[in-house]
Amino acid sequence: MNIIILGKPGSGKGTQAELLEKHFFHASAGDFIREEVKKGTPLGKRYNKIIANGNLLPDKEVTSLVLKKTKGRKNIMFDGFPRTIEQAILLEKNHIKIDKVIYIKVPDKVIISRLSKRMTCEKCGAVFHQTVNPPKKKGVCDFCKGKLYVRDDDKPNVVRNRLRIYNKETKPLIDYYRRKKILYEVDGNKEIKVIHRDIIKILKSF
Ligand code: AP5
Ligand code: MG
Repeated sequence: MNIIILGKPGSGKGTQAELLEKHFFHASAGDFIREEVKKGTPLGKRYNKIIANGNLLPDKEVTSLVLKKTKGRKNIMFDGFPRTIEQAILLEKNHIKIDKVIYIKVPDKVIISRLSKRMTCEKCGAVFHQTVNPPKKKGVCDFCKGKLYVRDDDKPNVVRNRLRIYNKETKPLIDYYRRKKILYEVDGNKEIKVIHRDIIKILKSF
Protein backbone atom coordinates (compact mmCIF):
# COMPACT_ATOMS: atom_id res chain seq x y z
CA MET A 1 0.00 0.00 0.00
CA ASN A 2 1.29 3.48 -0.91
CA ILE A 3 0.09 6.46 1.12
CA ILE A 4 0.46 10.24 1.19
CA ILE A 5 0.66 12.35 4.34
CA LEU A 6 -0.81 15.72 3.41
CA GLY A 7 -1.00 18.88 5.49
CA LYS A 8 0.22 22.43 6.07
CA PRO A 9 3.84 23.15 6.95
CA GLY A 10 4.21 22.17 10.61
CA SER A 11 1.01 20.14 10.73
CA GLY A 12 2.96 17.12 11.98
CA LYS A 13 3.54 15.16 8.75
CA GLY A 14 7.13 14.28 9.61
CA THR A 15 6.31 13.49 13.25
CA GLN A 16 3.55 11.06 12.26
CA ALA A 17 5.60 9.61 9.40
CA GLU A 18 8.43 8.76 11.82
CA LEU A 19 5.95 6.74 13.90
CA LEU A 20 4.91 4.77 10.81
CA GLU A 21 8.41 3.99 9.55
CA LYS A 22 8.25 0.33 10.56
CA HIS A 23 5.36 -0.15 8.12
CA PHE A 24 6.45 2.10 5.24
CA PHE A 25 9.42 3.52 3.35
CA HIS A 26 9.43 7.18 4.43
CA ALA A 27 9.79 9.40 1.36
CA SER A 28 10.04 12.99 2.62
CA ALA A 29 10.57 15.37 -0.30
CA GLY A 30 11.89 18.02 2.11
CA ASP A 31 14.47 15.59 3.57
CA PHE A 32 15.60 14.55 0.06
CA ILE A 33 16.04 18.20 -0.88
CA ARG A 34 17.95 19.00 2.34
CA GLU A 35 20.27 16.03 1.63
CA GLU A 36 21.20 17.70 -1.66
CA VAL A 37 21.69 21.04 0.09
CA LYS A 38 24.05 19.42 2.62
CA LYS A 39 26.26 18.12 -0.20
CA GLY A 40 26.99 21.75 -1.14
CA THR A 41 26.87 21.02 -4.88
CA PRO A 42 25.74 23.76 -7.33
CA LEU A 43 22.36 21.98 -7.44
CA GLY A 44 22.21 21.94 -3.63
CA LYS A 45 23.03 25.65 -3.52
CA ARG A 46 20.21 26.42 -5.95
CA TYR A 47 17.76 24.31 -3.92
CA ASN A 48 18.86 26.09 -0.73
CA LYS A 49 17.92 29.50 -2.17
CA ILE A 50 14.45 28.20 -3.01
CA ILE A 51 13.68 26.46 0.29
CA ALA A 52 15.19 29.17 2.52
CA ASN A 53 12.51 31.52 1.15
CA GLY A 54 9.77 28.91 1.49
CA ASN A 55 9.17 28.63 -2.25
CA LEU A 56 8.59 25.36 -4.13
CA LEU A 57 11.03 23.53 -6.39
CA PRO A 58 9.82 23.15 -10.01
CA ASP A 59 7.32 20.27 -10.33
CA LYS A 60 9.29 18.13 -12.80
CA GLU A 61 12.53 18.49 -10.89
CA VAL A 62 11.13 17.55 -7.48
CA THR A 63 9.15 14.66 -8.97
CA SER A 64 12.20 13.17 -10.64
CA LEU A 65 14.15 13.50 -7.35
CA VAL A 66 11.40 11.70 -5.42
CA LEU A 67 11.04 9.00 -8.10
CA LYS A 68 14.80 8.41 -8.06
CA LYS A 69 14.82 7.99 -4.27
CA THR A 70 11.80 5.64 -4.23
CA LYS A 71 12.74 3.51 -7.24
CA GLY A 72 11.95 -0.17 -6.66
CA ARG A 73 10.37 0.51 -3.24
CA LYS A 74 7.05 -0.89 -2.09
CA ASN A 75 4.81 0.51 0.67
CA ILE A 76 5.90 4.08 0.15
CA MET A 77 4.76 6.84 2.50
CA PHE A 78 5.07 10.17 0.69
CA ASP A 79 5.54 13.09 3.11
CA GLY A 80 5.23 16.56 1.57
CA PHE A 81 4.82 15.15 -1.92
CA PRO A 82 2.88 15.72 -4.12
CA ARG A 83 2.47 19.39 -3.28
CA THR A 84 0.75 20.57 -6.47
CA ILE A 85 -1.88 19.05 -8.77
CA GLU A 86 0.83 18.87 -11.46
CA GLN A 87 3.01 16.70 -9.18
CA ALA A 88 0.03 14.41 -8.43
CA ILE A 89 -0.54 13.94 -12.16
CA LEU A 90 3.17 13.23 -12.76
CA LEU A 91 3.03 10.55 -10.04
CA GLU A 92 0.09 8.89 -11.78
CA LYS A 93 1.85 9.08 -15.14
CA ASN A 94 4.72 7.17 -13.54
CA HIS A 95 2.28 4.41 -12.52
CA ILE A 96 2.53 4.92 -8.77
CA LYS A 97 -0.86 4.06 -7.32
CA ILE A 98 -1.89 5.83 -4.15
CA ASP A 99 -4.21 3.88 -1.85
CA LYS A 100 -4.86 6.37 0.92
CA VAL A 101 -4.20 10.05 1.56
CA ILE A 102 -4.04 11.06 5.23
CA TYR A 103 -4.85 14.75 5.57
CA ILE A 104 -3.70 16.19 8.92
CA LYS A 105 -5.85 19.23 9.66
CA VAL A 106 -4.43 21.98 11.93
CA PRO A 107 -5.37 25.70 12.32
CA ASP A 108 -2.76 28.34 11.25
CA LYS A 109 -2.21 29.78 14.75
CA VAL A 110 -1.11 26.34 16.02
CA ILE A 111 1.31 26.02 13.08
CA ILE A 112 3.14 29.25 13.92
CA SER A 113 3.69 28.23 17.54
CA ARG A 114 4.80 24.70 16.61
CA LEU A 115 7.37 25.81 14.04
CA SER A 116 8.83 28.50 16.29
CA LYS A 117 9.87 25.75 18.74
CA ARG A 118 10.83 22.96 16.37
CA MET A 119 14.28 21.38 16.40
CA THR A 120 15.47 19.05 13.66
CA CYS A 121 18.33 16.54 13.65
CA GLU A 122 20.98 17.57 11.14
CA LYS A 123 21.99 13.92 10.65
CA CYS A 124 18.78 11.85 10.42
CA GLY A 125 16.08 14.55 10.07
CA ALA A 126 14.15 13.48 13.22
CA VAL A 127 11.89 16.21 14.56
CA PHE A 128 11.47 17.47 18.15
CA HIS A 129 9.70 20.33 19.89
CA GLN A 130 11.14 22.34 22.77
CA THR A 131 8.12 21.75 25.03
CA VAL A 132 5.72 19.21 23.51
CA ASN A 133 8.22 16.64 22.27
CA PRO A 134 11.66 17.49 23.72
CA PRO A 135 14.75 15.32 23.17
CA LYS A 136 16.01 13.36 26.20
CA LYS A 137 19.26 15.35 26.13
CA LYS A 138 19.18 19.04 25.16
CA GLY A 139 20.38 19.67 21.60
CA VAL A 140 21.02 15.96 20.88
CA CYS A 141 18.93 13.58 18.75
CA ASP A 142 17.41 10.65 20.69
CA PHE A 143 17.84 8.31 17.73
CA CYS A 144 21.28 8.94 16.21
CA LYS A 145 22.91 11.39 18.67
CA GLY A 146 23.13 13.97 15.85
CA LYS A 147 23.08 17.70 16.62
CA LEU A 148 19.70 19.47 16.64
CA TYR A 149 19.27 22.75 14.74
CA VAL A 150 16.55 25.25 13.85
CA ARG A 151 15.64 25.14 10.15
CA ASP A 152 16.21 28.39 8.22
CA ASP A 153 12.68 28.21 6.85
CA ASP A 154 11.16 28.19 10.36
CA LYS A 155 11.64 31.96 10.69
CA PRO A 156 8.19 33.62 11.09
CA ASN A 157 8.26 35.55 7.77
CA VAL A 158 9.27 32.41 5.83
CA VAL A 159 6.60 30.36 7.63
CA ARG A 160 4.02 32.94 6.49
CA ASN A 161 5.17 32.54 2.88
CA ARG A 162 5.07 28.72 3.19
CA LEU A 163 1.47 28.94 4.45
CA ARG A 164 0.52 31.28 1.61
CA ILE A 165 2.02 28.90 -0.96
CA TYR A 166 0.33 25.94 0.73
CA ASN A 167 -3.07 27.64 0.39
CA LYS A 168 -2.50 28.44 -3.27
CA GLU A 169 -0.69 25.33 -4.56
CA THR A 170 -1.24 22.43 -2.15
CA LYS A 171 -4.71 22.93 -0.66
CA PRO A 172 -6.40 22.06 -4.00
CA LEU A 173 -5.02 18.51 -3.55
CA ILE A 174 -7.53 17.98 -0.72
CA ASP A 175 -10.45 18.14 -3.15
CA TYR A 176 -8.47 16.35 -5.84
CA TYR A 177 -8.04 13.25 -3.63
CA ARG A 178 -11.48 13.62 -2.02
CA ARG A 179 -13.02 13.28 -5.48
CA LYS A 180 -11.00 10.07 -5.95
CA LYS A 181 -12.50 8.86 -2.61
CA ILE A 182 -9.12 8.15 -1.03
CA LEU A 183 -8.89 11.15 1.31
CA TYR A 184 -9.02 10.54 5.08
CA GLU A 185 -9.01 13.50 7.42
CA VAL A 186 -7.52 13.45 10.93
CA ASP A 187 -7.66 16.17 13.57
CA GLY A 188 -4.02 17.24 13.94
CA ASN A 189 -4.71 19.42 16.95
CA LYS A 190 -4.48 16.54 19.42
CA GLU A 191 -1.63 14.78 21.19
CA ILE A 192 0.94 13.15 18.91
CA LYS A 193 0.14 9.60 20.07
CA VAL A 194 -3.63 10.12 19.78
CA ILE A 195 -3.22 11.26 16.16
CA HIS A 196 -1.01 8.22 15.53
CA ARG A 197 -3.77 5.93 16.82
CA ASP A 198 -6.32 7.70 14.58
CA ILE A 199 -4.05 7.16 11.56
CA ILE A 200 -3.51 3.49 12.39
CA LYS A 201 -7.32 3.01 12.51
CA ILE A 202 -7.62 4.56 9.04
CA LEU A 203 -4.83 2.40 7.64
CA LYS A 204 -6.47 -0.75 9.00
CA SER A 205 -9.96 0.13 7.79
CA PHE A 206 -11.54 -1.84 4.91
P1 AP5 B 1 9.22 20.06 4.17
O1 AP5 B 1 10.42 19.73 4.93
O2 AP5 B 1 8.33 18.98 3.71
O3 AP5 B 1 8.39 21.15 4.97
P2 AP5 B 1 6.81 21.36 5.18
O4 AP5 B 1 5.88 20.66 4.31
O5 AP5 B 1 6.67 22.83 5.17
O6 AP5 B 1 6.51 20.67 6.48
P3 AP5 B 1 7.37 20.65 7.76
O7 AP5 B 1 8.44 19.64 7.64
O8 AP5 B 1 7.79 22.06 8.12
O9 AP5 B 1 6.28 20.26 8.85
P4 AP5 B 1 5.67 18.84 9.20
O10 AP5 B 1 4.25 18.82 8.74
O11 AP5 B 1 6.55 17.74 8.79
O12 AP5 B 1 5.62 18.98 10.78
P5 AP5 B 1 6.59 18.32 11.90
O13 AP5 B 1 6.22 16.89 12.10
O14 AP5 B 1 8.01 18.68 11.67
O15 AP5 B 1 9.65 20.93 2.88
C1 AP5 B 1 10.58 21.99 3.03
C2 AP5 B 1 10.69 22.77 1.75
O16 AP5 B 1 11.18 21.93 0.68
C3 AP5 B 1 9.39 23.36 1.19
O17 AP5 B 1 9.04 24.57 1.83
C4 AP5 B 1 9.77 23.55 -0.28
O18 AP5 B 1 10.60 24.64 -0.42
C5 AP5 B 1 10.57 22.29 -0.56
N1 AP5 B 1 9.71 21.17 -0.98
C6 AP5 B 1 9.40 20.06 -0.24
N2 AP5 B 1 8.57 19.25 -0.92
C7 AP5 B 1 8.35 19.84 -2.11
C8 AP5 B 1 7.54 19.51 -3.22
N3 AP5 B 1 6.79 18.39 -3.25
N4 AP5 B 1 7.53 20.36 -4.27
C9 AP5 B 1 8.27 21.49 -4.29
N5 AP5 B 1 9.06 21.87 -3.25
C10 AP5 B 1 9.09 21.07 -2.17
O19 AP5 B 1 6.03 19.12 13.21
C11 AP5 B 1 6.29 20.49 13.41
C12 AP5 B 1 6.57 20.77 14.90
O20 AP5 B 1 5.38 20.50 15.64
C13 AP5 B 1 7.65 19.86 15.52
O21 AP5 B 1 8.37 20.60 16.45
C14 AP5 B 1 6.84 18.74 16.20
O22 AP5 B 1 7.54 18.17 17.32
C15 AP5 B 1 5.59 19.48 16.62
N6 AP5 B 1 4.38 18.65 16.61
C16 AP5 B 1 4.05 17.69 15.69
N7 AP5 B 1 2.84 17.15 16.00
C17 AP5 B 1 2.41 17.80 17.11
C18 AP5 B 1 1.21 17.70 17.90
N8 AP5 B 1 0.24 16.85 17.60
N9 AP5 B 1 1.08 18.52 18.96
C19 AP5 B 1 2.06 19.43 19.26
N10 AP5 B 1 3.22 19.55 18.59
C20 AP5 B 1 3.38 18.75 17.50
MG1 MG C 1 8.41 17.57 7.69
